[in-house]
Amino acid sequence: MEIIILKNAEKVAAMGGELVAELLRVSPAAVLGLATGGTQLALYRILVAKCHAGEISFRNTCSFNLDEYLGVTPDNPQSYRAYMKRELFDQIDIDQDNAFLPECDEGQNPVLVGPAYEQKIREAGGIDLQLLGIGVNGHIGFNEPSSSLNSRTRVKTLTRQTFEDNSRLFSPDEFQPTLAITMGIATIMNARRILLLATGENKAAAVSKMVEGPLTAMCPASILQMHERVTVLLDEAAAGGLRNRDYYEWTHLQNESLKDRFGRSHES
Ligand code: F6R
Repeated sequence: MEIIILKNAEKVAAMGGELVAELLRVSPAAVLGLATGGTQLALYRILVAKCHAGEISFRNTCSFNLDEYLGVTPDNPQSYRAYMKRELFDQIDIDQDNAFLPECDEGQNPVLVGPAYEQKIREAGGIDLQLLGIGVNGHIGFNEPSSSLNSRTRVKTLTRQTFEDNSRLFSPDEFQPTLAITMGIATIMNARRILLLATGENKAAAVSKMVEGPLTAMCPASILQMHERVTVLLDEAAAGGLRNRDYYEWTHLQNESLKDRFGRSHES
């Protein structure tokens, strides 16, 4: 894993934005895997600014989001479709017919959504770059602890903790879903490159389990240790629990000089 520790959340978003932009410059038709949540907001603001400045375009891309609540319609402001429209899609030049979420239309059998989503990802040629956040409990997407490390897109029940973490976003009289459709862990692992962002002290324990803990379904993000090309961008607070920090910082310095010579980091 390539672990990059930056001073603050702003720098994490800036570097994340630059990595996405680099990909779009080289591959304007890249297939993007997108995430929602608080951590991605600053990154999306940067992508919007780069798009407005004419530095990047999403015109030829297509995107697949990690997850969507079950039982929340796309026009509900709490849906992840609404989040993506608000924070990104409506502000960039993406063709929204090519921006997919694992949504379950009214009357549709939710069990069939997962395999159809997987098929759509395959038809698009697979995901070039998957953005991820990490839950306080180590989840990626809504793959909660104990999720099969070999899982595919399917319905998942959120843990009480995830439900409570997200309750700040719902008013007391509002329906808050306990179910979601999420890309599976194996689906995420199929992405050619993964970029995970984590900021804030409340992520420190999950980050150290992901990077330095044993590979276990009890910390789904730990599976990323098995991926060939993961970049983890952390702020100081989220990196606070890492024992091997000196090595990651040393490696990053070496990589920077290698990148100057060969154009890309070799770390994995
Ligand atoms: C969002 C998602 C989640 C979040 C994670 C972190 O699509 O799948 O795994 O990335 O819960 O959320 P924040 O960034 O709000 O802390």
